[in-house]
Amino acid sequence: MQSPKYTARAHTNIALIKYWGKLDQDLIIPMNSSLSLTLDKFYTDTSVFFDSTLKQDIFRLNNKGSSSLKVTHFMKVLREKTGETRFAMINSENHVPSAAGLASSASAFAALALAASRAAGLVLDSRSLSRLARRGSGSATRSIYGGFVEWQQGSDDATSYAVPFEENVAWDLSMIAVVISAKQKKISSSVGMQRVVATSPYYSAWRKTAAQDLAAMKKAIKKRDFRQVGTIAEENAMKMHALNASAHPHFSYFEPASLQVMKIVADLRSNGIFCYYTLDAGPNVKIICQNKDIQTILAALAPSFSQERLVVAGPGPGVKLIDKP
Ligand code: PMV
Repeated sequence: MQSPKYTARAHTNIALIKYWGKLDQDLIIPMNSSLSLTLDKFYTDTSVFFDSTLKQDIFRLNNKGSSSLKVTHFMKVLREKTGETRFAMINSENHVPSAAGLASSASAFAALALAASRAAGLVLDSRSLSRLARRGSGSATRSIYGGFVEWQQGSDDATSYAVPFEENVAWDLSMIAVVISAKQKKISSSVGMQRVVATSPYYSAWRKTAAQDLAAMKKAIKKRDFRQVGTIAEENAMKMHALNASAHPHFSYFEPASLQVMKIVADLRSNGIFCYYTLDAGPNVKIICQNKDIQTILAALAPSFSQERLVVAGPGPGVKLIDKP
């Protein structure tokens, strides 16, 4: 017996205030609250149905058979929560308009949470969906909503979820994603953050300043103070990467080309073009800028990066069903 098939679309998000460290590994309760911008250009479409003839979950990514321990674990959690006993057929497609490398677990688990819960017969409100997506990947907690989103850390499964901070962003704000490498990262975000929490002597300072950065970021967004938003985001990202440099053994996600982009951005800024960078658990750089400066920034990057490695994105929407029975 087969369940009805549901298909959901979720967009990825980039954190302006980073989540970096777990209080609870299994429930994925973070050590600090975070804030992100959901982007329009990068998204995942996922369809799910349950089938009593399946002997295990089947996961296909971009039309190829795939396997993921995180997906297997997530589906186990979902079955426990919904009472569904059958295994599922899961088809996922990442839409990344470039040489890849920007597909993310945020869009993947937000789309899977909506499609799988509906296929299991459960209609969840946004808060419950955010809590469910969190069990797949921390950053997915925020991809339930569009625009600026805050993930309130909470202290347990019931209290850790995202809330919209500003869903429909009417502001001329963009992110230019510079694709440095599409390769799988050597140190996953999970392993990286766990090592930092266990060994960085600066971790308690991170928790304190992340809370201050978040409060200042919310004020700056409300005031539409672009330079302040950019400055806080860049400094917060550098604090996160400084934790990695202070871990034991220390590690870094930067590649030489990441540093090159960071220098181009700093040079543009000293010439009066206000733009700022942020990096996650990988070498790709995202440049936060205003629409009027996009062409100047692209021109400064053009000698070193081909056009298909530069993707301009704007604020994007929250998760939604795109196909249902
Ligand atoms: O939840 P994950 O495994 O995608 O980890 C996300 C970690 C960062 O992207 C570095 C920060 C963030 O808040 O998205």
